[in-house]
Amino acid sequence: MAPQLSRETIELVRNSVPVLEAHGSDITKAMYARLFKDDHIKALFNHANQGEGGSQVHALAAAILGYAKNIENLGVLGPVVERIAHKHIGYHILPEHYPYVAEALLAAIKDILGDAATPAVLTAWGEAYWFLADILKGRENVLRDEIESRSGGWNGWRRFTISSKVKESDVVTSFTLTPSDGGRVIRHRPGQYLTFRLPLLGGGLAKRNYSISCGPNDETYRISVKREANGQGGSLYLHDHTEVGTEVEATPPAGDFFLPDEPKTPIVLLSGGVGLTPMVSMLETIARDYPELEAHFIHGALNSSTHAMDKHVRGLASLRDKLSVKTFYSDPGLGDAAGLSHDYDGFITVDWLRSQTPFETSEFYLCGPKPFLRALVPALSRAGVSSDRIHYEFFGPADELLAA
Ligand SMILES: Cc1cc2nc3c(=O)[nH]c(=O)nc-3n(C[C@H](O)[C@H](O)[C@H](O)COP(=O)(O)OP(=O)(O)OC[C@H]3O[C@@H](n4cnc5c(N)ncnc54)[C@H](O)[C@@H]3O)c2cc1C
Ligand code: HEM
Repeated sequence: MAPQLSRETIELVRNSVPVLEAHGSDITKAMYARLFKDDHIKALFNHANQGEGGSQVHALAAAILGYAKNIENLGVLGPVVERIAHKHIGYHILPEHYPYVAEALLAAIKDILGDAATPAVLTAWGEAYWFLADILKGRENVLRDEIESRSGGWNGWRRFTISSKVKESDVVTSFTLTPSDGGRVIRHRPGQYLTFRLPLLGGGLAKRNYSISCGPNDETYRISVKREANGQGGSLYLHDHTEVGTEVEATPPAGDFFLPDEPKTPIVLLSGGVGLTPMVSMLETIARDYPELEAHFIHGALNSSTHAMDKHVRGLASLRDKLSVKTFYSDPGLGDAAGLSHDYDGFITVDWLRSQTPFETSEFYLCGPKPFLRALVPALSRAGVSSDRIHYEFFGPADELLAA
């Protein structure tokens, strides 16, 4: 039987949650201060988003509190564990890092609860933390072993050489990455991302996820990156400071957002802006491996100047009768015209999807900016699409999207 927390531990943890929750930002601050005292742990985190309210530390503290709230119903954790475990693989978080968070968390709880942090309460939190940490470490070990044992697999940071750099639109550029060691790459699952460490403008390294925008193969990956002019350096480095021959470092493909191995039901791929990258990987895979599968690639862009990879996507669709492509421009440019440069003016809506796709049977895959997901994910649910048919990726920490 799976190990269980004792009733006493559950009660002690549960009773202290309301006070800790009431001091949500204090716990984040206190954890941050402890955790980043150690430079080696600090370096694991993403420093562009850092700061006392840095979203990563916030995500971690929020996840632990969320877990404590659900401590009697840990079944709800399944999908969350999977998402966090994949993130941790990308950031190369190892079992030996877990004690640092335990120490920081318990010290933060002590700071906030004051006298109420009796030895019994702290022991209970310690047990509860390690219960969750063991679940994560267990899953991460399985994922790591699986990745390492597959052809082309590796562990930790590996060097890649940019073997082509192609401008896809005014804002998006694609980079093909070939292993510098001359070896093969692991075949990713279409939809997964790579994690890079890239120089920041102000010095130091940023960890950044980029979805792989090509179908799985043994030789190369492709990523397609939007230039964030006001960012701190990840995308600016790739756009402005690399050329063919530049080397970058990446951990293996990770992420729990991917096309199933043998897709059977119709697939609707919905993307906004640069959120098209995992969808292009899925579309390439469907075009190559599943000729009988009905799939709809539906993309929203501002206008033709920002619209990336259209020719490639339409080329793929032209190979198969069962693939369709439709594009929406929310802010058509002077030379844009519906029917020529794109299919429709405006935004993708659920009413349109209902009338133009096999709505009752499709699996929906979505990726795009916050407003895009915030508009479409709840609307699909309201229109009766069950949550197990709605799959989405967000290009940021999960708690940011949930908070939105
Ligand atoms: C799973 C996943 C997959 C992803 N896939 C892709 C992909 O395929 N293609 C892609 O282009 N991106 C992708 N991303 C996003 C990518 O990881 C980066 O977040 C993105 O490139 C921005 O990084 P940056 O370093 O250039 O900018 P950042 O420094 O992270 O800045 C991003 C934006 O935040 C704002 N900002 C930054 N710092 C501050 C500050 N101090 N104050 C106020 N505002 C600030 C700026 O407006 C800026 O435009 C993905 C993200 C995830 C999580
Ligand atoms: C029980 C323990 C832990 C929990 C509950 C937890 C929870 C989380 C959560 C919720 C995220 C965000 C996932 C997402 O946005 O999709 C995350 C990401 C991350 N975690 Fe953990 N974590 C734990 C342990 C650790 C440890 C031990 C470390 C390293 C010392 C660590 C480092 C990171 C990093 C670097 C990220 C990536 C942040 C990003 O999205 O940019 N975590 N973790």
